[in-house]
Formats: sequence, structure tokens, C-alpha cells
Amino acid sequence: MRKLTYLVACSLDGYIGDPAGDATSMLTYLDEEYLGHLATEHADTLPTQARRGLGVDDAPNTRFDTIIQGRASYDLALKDGITSPYAHLRQYVASRTLTESPDPDVEIIAEDLVGRVRALKAEDSALDIYLCGGSGIAGALLDEVDELVIKSYPQVYGSGMPMFGGAAFAVTDFRLTSVRAFGNGVVIRAYDRKR
Ligand SMILES: NC(=O)c1ccc[n+]([C@@H]2O[C@H](COP(=O)([O-])OP(=O)(O)OC[C@H]3O[C@@H](n4cnc5c(N)ncnc54)[C@H](OP(=O)(O)O)[C@@H]3O)[C@@H](O)[C@H]2O)c1
Repeated sequence: MRKLTYLVACSLDGYIGDPAGDATSMLTYLDEEYLGHLATEHADTLPTQARRGLGVDDAPNTRFDTIIQGRASYDLALKDGITSPYAHLRQYVASRTLTESPDPDVEIIAEDLVGRVRALKAEDSALDIYLCGGSGIAGALLDEVDELVIKSYPQVYGSGMPMFGGAAFAVTDFRLTSVRAFGNGVVIRAYDRKR
């Protein structure tokens, strides 16, 4: 089985954005060292435009070949006129309201989200599935998340959009697999789920 990895940017207090989901305050940490790391280690998870900006638009996929995001997150690209924001990946958007996909490279999942994700995980591929967020779809898929990669920015939000929206209280244990700290105070931690 390949993994579903939720890779997400968070404040120190665990919010993925302000109450509306906006995380632009984190952009102030995009310095040379950190951007270099994103370009070399996380190119798969960058939108097409960012890959282009960093000169890695032709980089082969090394960790992921598939992305899943919620409709509200996809809307942010649509608002900028971008219908295929992660052109290097197979793209799925969860939505019960988008009846037709705006792009032939983006498939809408309207029903049985968990079942569809399980089927994707069961596919024979060396590369994993990138759960991009946001909060709502992450909450809906919490039981399916096999790996967490948290890009933790040294900012406290006080309140905001949680990492897993709408999830019921339940303790789930994860095992720390790597930590990388940067000069700007950003820390990237990776965890595998204990099954
Ligand atoms: N910090 C980060 O790394 C990061 C990463 C990604 C996103 N974000 C932020 O997260 C915010 C968006 O998060 P969000 O929680 O509002 O929305 P979201 O998770 O992106 O999308 C929620 C939508 O997904 C669809 N959906 C959810 N569960 C579903 C299911 N079981 N079956 C079918 N469709 C389902 C629904 O779409 P319909 O309403 O169309 O049915 C729902 O309204 C954005 O502001 C973005 O900036 C932050």
C-alpha cells in the first residue's frame, strides 16, 4: 500500500491559516536556504507556478505522483485563472458542488471520498499521494493519513483554521521520523502513523 501524506504549513499553535485559511504571513520566511530546500526536497509538492519560479518545473517526481485537495483550496487557483495548479501530478479535487471539472487534468471526487482514496492507495506505484489540504478535506480523511509532514513556522496565530477541520476528538499516535530546522526558525517534522 502506498501512503497518503498530509504535508502542510502550520503556525506554532497548529493552525494552517487565519480563521479564513489565509497563511500569507508565512511567506515572510521564504529565504534562500529554505527556498533551496523546498526546491530540492519538496518540488513535487509545489504548484506549477512556484516550480517555474524556482527553476524546477522539469524536475521528475520523486515522492508523489498524485495530489488530493479540497474544493476550497482548489478555488484559490481558479480565482487566479489556473485550472491545473499541479500539472506534474495526477490531480483530484473533492467536491459535491463542482459538477463538472474545469480542466481535463483534474478529476472531481464527489462521492465516497474515503473509498476513492483507499483505491488510490492500493494502486501499484512507487510514489505516494500528497494530501494538500485544506482543513475540511484533511478532517474528512484523517483516518486515512499515513504520514504527516508539518512545516512549522515560528509564528503564533492565537486562533485560526485547524489542521483537521471537523474531526471528532480522538487520540492518534504518530512516530517521529525526521526533523529539519532552518536558520529562519522554520522546522519541518515528518511522522509516520502508528497502526
Ligand atoms: N497551510 C497550508 O499548508 C494549507 C494547505 C492547503 C490549504 N490551505 C488553506 O486551507 C483553506 C481551505 O480549507 P477549507 O477547510 O476551507 O477547505 P478545503 O478542505 O480545501 O475544501 C473543503 C471542500 O472540500 C469538499 N469536501 C470535503 N469533504 C468532502 C467529502 N467527504 N466528499 C466530497 N467533497 C468533500 C467540499 O467541497 P464542496 O463544498 O464543493 O462540496 C468542501 O467544502 C484555504 O484558505 C487554503 O489557503 C492551507
